[in-house]
Amino acid sequence: MVKNDEILSEEEQHFAGAGRVYYFDVVIDSGKGAILTDVDGNEYIDLLASASATNTGHAHPKIVKAIQDQAEKLVHYTAAYFASATEAKLANELVKLAPGNPDDWMVVYGNSGSDANDAVIKFARGYTGRPNVVSFVGAYHGSTYGSISASAVSLNMSRKIGPLLPGFYKVPFPSPEKRLAGESDADFVERMFVAFKEPFENYLPAEETAVIMVEPIQGDGGIMAPPAGYWQKVAEFAHEHGILLAVDEVNQGYGRTGTFWSFEHFGLEPDLIAMGKSMASGMPLSAVLGRREIMQSLEAPANVYTTAGNVVSAAAALATLDVIKSEDLVARSAKLGEVAQKFFNHEKEQFDFIGDVRLYGLNGGIDIVDPQTGLGDEQVTNTIIYNLFKNGVLMISLRGSTLRFQPPLVIEEDDLQRAFTIMHQVFDDFAKGKLSEPNGRHHIGW
Ligand SMILES: Cc1ncc(COP(=O)(O)O)c(C=O)c1O
Repeated sequence: MVKNDEILSEEEQHFAGAGRVYYFDVVIDSGKGAILTDVDGNEYIDLLASASATNTGHAHPKIVKAIQDQAEKLVHYTAAYFASATEAKLANELVKLAPGNPDDWMVVYGNSGSDANDAVIKFARGYTGRPNVVSFVGAYHGSTYGSISASAVSLNMSRKIGPLLPGFYKVPFPSPEKRLAGESDADFVERMFVAFKEPFENYLPAEETAVIMVEPIQGDGGIMAPPAGYWQKVAEFAHEHGILLAVDEVNQGYGRTGTFWSFEHFGLEPDLIAMGKSMASGMPLSAVLGRREIMQSLEAPANVYTTAGNVVSAAAALATLDVIKSEDLVARSAKLGEVAQKFFNHEKEQFDFIGDVRLYGLNGGIDIVDPQTGLGDEQVTNTIIYNLFKNGVLMISLRGSTLRFQPPLVIEEDDLQRAFTIMHQVFDDFAKGKLSEPNGRHHIGW
């Protein structure tokens, strides 16, 4: 028996299934840049970047060194009671990432993107004195009770665990499949904005709403953004009614979309910014940046966690910012994103099972559809990602039938081209009916 299988069959005895979305029988052993190696020694080009948590790639030497140096000095002392130099330095750096004057912003730390969004909810309620939270269908804000209550991307995230928190309302997201045939951007935006306002006109008093939570580009929802103008209308509505605007940059921030924050694409001026994942290159750390007056609305210990702002994670976060800057990763994401856009557009022209292609930087959702109906085809998507995996490319799906393209931003162009060559071959083999379906025991994907 190979080692991958040995480890997995042993783990399966004790690891509860709710904690992992199953894709392939693989056990990751090591990583370098955009290349992963499993415990059997097989190599994969990583097109997932640990769910967009390792934008700087795997085991970046500068980040590893920063972690080692900090760990030798101090592994942890809780920021809930005392400051540590590294964590204090990071707070000063993070406010510089906010729009406008850094002095207008303050920071709190967390351990995960989920608890960052919980903090958003707490501060928004604390500051406004209002109970209600509005978010979008298709959003994923996390897995704690607060963030899961704001999410709407999988039935298994509410099935059997309810009731979720009261005061949470969902509005429709202007995703491409909602657009009517021949509908212009402007008409689509207007129609979706009418739908957005419907709750506020019928049962949800705007003056009792604390915050609108937004993923400017929905990540787990399929890497999709509304047409130009839509977010502006939502932002204006929020502003008019004294509702805070919070952006969730956990997935799409830190250079992923070809700008540092994804909200920059839409000219938004958020009041609260949640971040996590890549901010510490995969070390557990999250943060919320908020306008000063909002962050001063709650008193300790309204938002403390023992390990939030851990110094080793904070050291990794400082090194991450250094790497993003010194290697120009934001521009690299934009540049390689164009290369990827060309590749996927070209494939779409050749293969009728490739539907909508959405790229924002080195970050994309590629729909796999049944050419007869135009609807998403989960089985074909699974066949494609399974055969990519068999050929050394690690890629997963979003919402069943969208290919999730999120390589580390440091990926070498040669490796990216190699991944594209393999992908083209897999598409071509599928078109010729040559591919085998995954023969796993498990359901693949969310
Ligand atoms: C947009 C967004 N927000 C929040 C989260 C939750 O982050 P975490 O898994 O670190 O709790 C995720 C995770 O995928 C995410 O994509």
